[in-house]
Amino acid sequence: MSIRTPLCDLFGIEHPVLLAPMAGVSGGALAAAVSEAGGLGLIGGGYGDADWLEREFDAAGDARIGVGFITWSLARQPQLLDLVFNRNPAALMFSFGDFKPLLPRIRDEQTKFIVQVQTLDQAREAVDAGVDAIVAQGTEAGGHGGTRATLPFVPAVVDIAKDIPVIAAGGIADGRGLAAALALGASGVLCGTGFFASDESLAYNNAKQAAVSGSGDDTERSSVFDMARDLDWPSDWNLRTMRNSFTRQWSADMDGLSQNLAEEQARFNAASAAGDTNIAPVIVGEAADLIRAIEPAQDTLHRIISQAEDRLRRIGRLVGPITKD
Ligand SMILES: Cc1cc2nc3c(=O)[nH]c(=O)nc-3n(C[C@H](O)[C@H](O)[C@H](O)COP(=O)(O)O)c2cc1C
Repeated sequence: MSIRTPLCDLFGIEHPVLLAPMAGVSGGALAAAVSEAGGLGLIGGGYGDADWLEREFDAAGDARIGVGFITWSLARQPQLLDLVFNRNPAALMFSFGDFKPLLPRIRDEQTKFIVQVQTLDQAREAVDAGVDAIVAQGTEAGGHGGTRATLPFVPAVVDIAKDIPVIAAGGIADGRGLAAALALGASGVLCGTGFFASDESLAYNNAKQAAVSGSGDDTERSSVFDMARDLDWPSDWNLRTMRNSFTRQWSADMDGLSQNLAEEQARFNAASAAGDTNIAPVIVGEAADLIRAIEPAQDTLHRIISQAEDRLRRIGRLVGPITKD
């Protein structure tokens, strides 16, 4: 079983599949499971919490893993990078915000540096900064994201990136998606939703069940949960989740939510603590269509690879012999 791309050489991995650094979901155990299965697991450093990071790096044991952060939040506490580099991660990924002020500190280290982009301008910026790899994220993605769709966005970023490997993200959770991403010129994929319901994921069990029984039709992008969580996200990005009673009540009435914020936050916080997915978010993307079971991450990863191989072989057979004309 093998599909080798330049991404495998860049990170020293067997399969060109990365676990997305999902805040609160991609902990050390999940990242280690993906890495040990031949991909590269990234823990979800999210908004940056030193205790959480130490714990989850420990939980990964000796596995070779990376870590990802929400750029605008990490930029407010750049000292966290010392903790990160002490752990000698295989890769450091930034998404959502201006990473340039952090570059000098990053460039002191050998760690491979990945930037996730949602627009072509961001892709150009990443190329100019000399990043090691670019994640082109389509709006189908679970979690925060922008407005571009994966299918046209990935090849456009590939054209900009030239020799820098591009990793496709957003809506990819099986081997058909990996095969398609390679056909678009990507060097591999980064999957979040596809690993959300893994045994090793830190998501609540009922959230995993909701993801398995839900579909992409049941998801939408909104900012209601960012407002409820008091997170001052820049307006360029919002959050794809499954619809629930909270989104139905407020996503078309952000002013109403803002006027009732104290009360709604109390309700939201209680629901989050209890894992009540009627109010707290199940953060998955359109690829919820493709999650069929709660299972070990290794099984998911190996199925993605074997299915992609099968697809690529079948597609190859569609092409006629080379003719001289
Ligand atoms: C539960 C969840 C949490 C996420 N949290 C983060 C995060 O903290 N930082 C980040 O860069 N991306 C985050 N993402 C987005 C992923 O990096 C990635 O772009 C996305 O999962 C890819 O699309 P997919 O969900 O269709 O696989 C998150 C995604 C999910 C599903």
